[in-house]
Amino acid sequence: MTIILAIETSCDETAVAVVRDGSELLANVVSSQVDIHSKFGGVVPEVASRRHVEKMTVLLEEALRQANISMDEVDAVAVTEGPGLVGALLIGVTTAKTLAFSRGLPLIPVHHIAGHIYANQFVGEMAFPLVALVVSGGHTELIYMERHYAFKRLGQTRDDAVGESYDKVARLLNLPYPGGPQLDQLAEKGKVTYDFPRAWLERGSLDFSFSGLKTAVMNTVQQEKQEKIVIEDVAASFQEAVLDVLIEKTRQAMEQTGVRRLLVAGGVSANRGLRRRLKELAQERRLTLSLPPLDLCTDNAAMIGAAAYYAQQKGIQAGLDLNANPGLPLI
Ligand code: KG4
Ligand code: ZN
Repeated sequence: MTIILAIETSCDETAVAVVRDGSELLANVVSSQVDIHSKFGGVVPEVASRRHVEKMTVLLEEALRQANISMDEVDAVAVTEGPGLVGALLIGVTTAKTLAFSRGLPLIPVHHIAGHIYANQFVGEMAFPLVALVVSGGHTELIYMERHYAFKRLGQTRDDAVGESYDKVARLLNLPYPGGPQLDQLAEKGKVTYDFPRAWLERGSLDFSFSGLKTAVMNTVQQEKQEKIVIEDVAASFQEAVLDVLIEKTRQAMEQTGVRRLLVAGGVSANRGLRRRLKELAQERRLTLSLPPLDLCTDNAAMIGAAAYYAQQKGIQAGLDLNANPGLPLI
């Protein structure tokens, strides 16, 4: 039995969790900074770091209380090493190093995207081989996994990430930050009336490109007279263009690899339209689909604790010289 205390501070959520054996969630506390950053229309890095400092000790205590354990029962400390905002990451890394040093515990560094993938451990034991569709604020990738903690990239975005496009388009429409959930709600009410572009790229390519779509939405919003814009319809049309590409590239990835297990990860996996379309794809192609629980789609430390359990089994461990790595590659 292994109890891991996990810390995540890569962006604007301060999060601590306690996870047993990579799949049992004993505690999960998340303190979101959305209300602080929304008045600026996006995350202010320096403000995020300061807030992480303020919240960290309170959240650590709260997580241990929720899990009903003391630090004596913790077997290892896990932390998001990167990618993310360097100042924000540093708060988590420094906290984790301090705990590991003072308690003589192993320190397990986790890649943020590996974390998102392992959020699926809380819906059921992951089985392999699988293809993971990663859709977050900073990443859009198709990843092949033959076994635990072994990642191969099949495709990735060449410009904006999906979540980033949602946030940028939401900003064009004067919606508050973060835009993804707002656009999701509006899209449910709208009709697909605008024909926005879908970037398919070269034949057989599993890469993505979303910046053209963002520009097309911008041009439409600027060209149309303000009173003529039906914001729900813009949202529905934008989302339809995003989903068409995500679903088709995912279908191609399953076909090219011959894999029958599809896993989804990252903040945008909370999107209702995407979840619906993925379920349809899974049914049509007889795929086994794994979607993270709604409360573990966006940033949290539970996913870091789950990933760390498998990272540790692969012998991944950091020394006290561990540093935050804002551009850490997954592969
Ligand atoms: O994975 P995440 O929490 O952070 C990163 O690792 O980047 O993803 C955050 C992103 C944001 O861009 C946010 O707008 C988007 O996920 N997002 C959504 C939804 N919920 C969060 N996008 C579309 N629909 C949603 N329901
Ligand atoms: Zn994330």
